Amino acid sequence: MTQPTRALPLSPGDSPAIGGPLGPYPRGWFLVRFSDELAPGVAVPIRYFGEDLVLFRGESGAVKILDAFCPHLGAHLGHGGKVEGDQIRCPFHAWRFDGDGVCTDVPYASRIPPRARVACWPVVERDGMIFVWHDPEHGPPDWELPSLASLLEEGRFTAWSHSVLEIKTHPREIVENLVDTAHFMPVHGTRADKFRNEYLGHVAVQHNSGVAYPLGGGEDAYDLTATYYGPAYMVTHMRGVRESLIINAHTPIGPNLLHLRFAVALRQQGDREISPEFTARYIDNLRRGYQQDVEIWEHKVFRERPLLSECDGEFGNLRRWYRAFYEPRASKGAAE
Ligand code: FES
Ligand SMILES: [Fe+2]
Repeated sequence: MTQPTRALPLSPGDSPAIGGPLGPYPRGWFLVRFSDELAPGVAVPIRYFGEDLVLFRGESGAVKILDAFCPHLGAHLGHGGKVEGDQIRCPFHAWRFDGDGVCTDVPYASRIPPRARVACWPVVERDGMIFVWHDPEHGPPDWELPSLASLLEEGRFTAWSHSVLEIKTHPREIVENLVDTAHFMPVHGTRADKFRNEYLGHVAVQHNSGVAYPLGGGEDAYDLTATYYGPAYMVTHMRGVRESLIINAHTPIGPNLLHLRFAVALRQQGDREISPEFTARYIDNLRRGYQQDVEIWEHKVFRERPLLSECDGEFGNLRRWYRAFYEPRASKGAAE
């Protein structure tokens, strides 16, 4: 009796580990909160890129991210730390650190130890979102995030309605959606009629038009442009039954574990206000769409050399573009 042959065994470079040989955390801007989740004077613990951090908003409104652990005896500044002005005071012995992480007060000593500081992470708050810059080489940001302000104001869009999922996968699985036309119908019930990608430095774009078949029946024609600014922040401008801006941003928590944040701003049409119930349904639909992908992402392997058909998307180009965010700046091909 002959043994059945395995159609495509794992070969060198393939990996049963999700994500394959790439390191877990690329260089780039990552969304950590929507602005309305962090009030002035509030400090919260966050954990991303395998690091414990404290995120706080000073009384002036400025947002800061510092390494979590106090250089004195190691208390976590995000668990009980008090915001004072734009600084934070440690909950343990009350040393105070400014937004750059420099110690500015040891209340029971006249001299501040010169090395008393914690690392400070670059932060940008833009368009109602808070981003942190992560770089394994600890370099300054390579590029600026775009501003959506003119689009949001001109179009009279609603405020962001947002949500978050925790997903057990490597970030690259999410990014590969950008070129993966063939999964639209089986996974999402969507037929892409026109589909094209382009790459420009740190930006990767999908132009896509087609027809969505919602679960409730009917058909919705759509036309969208989805743009990745760096490895983890995607803005989709969708024109269909409604015009919307959709955010899709993932941030690694640890190896093969990440947060996927998503949000929608809907364009107001006519004089009728868009109801919160309508927006909530829209977010629910987005969540369902992502969950369809999550079911695949959390159980798949990564194929370094996938067996592609002539009609599959341009995985090679996408992977080259994406890999550059993991490479040291000095190496050829690093994203600009
Ligand atoms: S541990 Fe922070 S002040 Fe002592
Ligand atoms: Fe998908």
